[in-house]
Amino acid sequence: MTDRLMIFDTTLRDGEQSPGASMTRDEKIRIARQLEKLRVDVIEAGFPAASNGDFEAVKAVAGIIKDSIVCGLARANDNDIRRAGEALADANAGRIHTFIATSPIHMQMKLRMAPEQVIEQAVKAVKLARSYRDDVEFSPEDAGRSEPDFLCRILEAVIDAGATTINVPDTVGYTMPEQFGGLIRTLRERIPNADKVVWSVHCHNDLGLAVANSLAAVTNGARQVECTINGLGERAGNAALEEIVMAVRTRRDFFACDTRIDTTQIVPASKLVSAITGFPVQPNKAIVGANAFAHESGIHQDGVLKSRETYEIMRAEDVGWSHNKLVLGKLSGRNAFRQRLKELGIEMESEESVNAAFARFKDLADRKSEIFDEDLQMLVSEEAAGQVGEHYKLVSMKTQSETGEKPTATVVIGEGSDERHADATGSGSVDAVFRAIESIAGSGADLQLFSVNAITGGTDAQGEVTVRLKKEGRIVNGAGADTDIVVASAKAYISALNKLHSKLERAHPQV
Ligand code: KIV
Ligand code: ZN
Repeated sequence: MTDRLMIFDTTLRDGEQSPGASMTRDEKIRIARQLEKLRVDVIEAGFPAASNGDFEAVKAVAGIIKDSIVCGLARANDNDIRRAGEALADANAGRIHTFIATSPIHMQMKLRMAPEQVIEQAVKAVKLARSYRDDVEFSPEDAGRSEPDFLCRILEAVIDAGATTINVPDTVGYTMPEQFGGLIRTLRERIPNADKVVWSVHCHNDLGLAVANSLAAVTNGARQVECTINGLGERAGNAALEEIVMAVRTRRDFFACDTRIDTTQIVPASKLVSAITGFPVQPNKAIVGANAFAHESGIHQDGVLKSRETYEIMRAEDVGWSHNKLVLGKLSGRNAFRQRLKELGIEMESEESVNAAFARFKDLADRKSEIFDEDLQMLVSEEAAGQVGEHYKLVSMKTQSETGEKPTATVVIGEGSDERHADATGSGSVDAVFRAIESIAGSGADLQLFSVNAITGGTDAQGEVTVRLKKEGRIVNGAGADTDIVVASAKAYISALNKLHSKLERAHPQV
């Protein structure tokens, strides 16, 4: 007899709190569709009170997703709960997730509230949330550093007030697996009405223990885990969905529970999130890293050839690695293109957008003989970024590099109806291009990260470049792809500048 473990994905909310990972409404919709295909139980689509943009994104996801519960985050106050309730009004199945901090340091220093006031506010919030939805989750923020006696009191009160899921967060990634598992057991044993709710956990990865802590909680009765694709999330991130799901699936004998996840959708989800957020996946990352199933040493290769179970505890195809297949080529027509987009869960809003994306596809197919799903995802991301309203546009560029000479670059950038030219030299072609672009934009931003990844295999693969810029405390990521990595770099730099320019401000739920 195996119990069901619910998977609550918070890529679109906690994942979005990673520096520079904020997503547009359309990007959230694309990821939400993939999460639905992956069969996650709950999609936390955002924090509706953060900004009008986030409200609209949660509302749009709630209107589209049918097979997963759509959740909106709300602090424990009337305005946040009302906004979450309104954003979820069209959801087939909607959940309000409300929270308030319960650790002594958070209550004293951040909230400046007495413990009794915190209980009162939590109960009031849960009651209000229940007036909008029957499905209400409550989290005592920083539970990992809260006093167990106080947690027992507040959780008993919110369960009485109507909470249906209790989520225990290790907000700062402080606890150790045995300790965190013990906390879940203690709460379940000591709270008299504990059997009326589903117990959930939400672990951060500051000490690299998010997955271990979540799994320790599962062995102590948690039946929902909050996690993100690729472990994206605030600071060092959240527990990685792919690791939780595959640990429980591979070791069903140990956990005595399982999820309803379609594991073959894991790698496509990982690639999509990486392409949209510009956060590359490290090659040795479990399950979704490029080397996760690569056997380098001769002894391992020999063993795997004789019997794959000698060194493989999972099969690459079971987590979606076989997905990387040739899908379209130069001779593919518009209908085949549209059909493949549909299969990937991408719905473009207008015929105009399909035509523009198709023109980009034809252009790419001229330069690259085989087009893979990852290429299509990147192409659509670029098309969507263009529609958000680009302040700067790459019109053309030329670079020259020769052994022993300083590389030079000439770029032409569109800014509104103007076209502006600049020349620069640099220590390499990319450096020269960035200097030329910066001499036009004059952003003064700090370059914090520059990374290049091949989207697929082969020397004609598109290079996917991420550029992270920081200006006045704001951090943005820009992504660009091209078969020429210097062009991809220019696109990524311009995409980051456009994000800085858009000045989209949003409230942070926990600050
Ligand atoms: O880390 C945390 O405590 C959170 C809560 C809002 C659940 O993200
Ligand atoms: Zn969190």
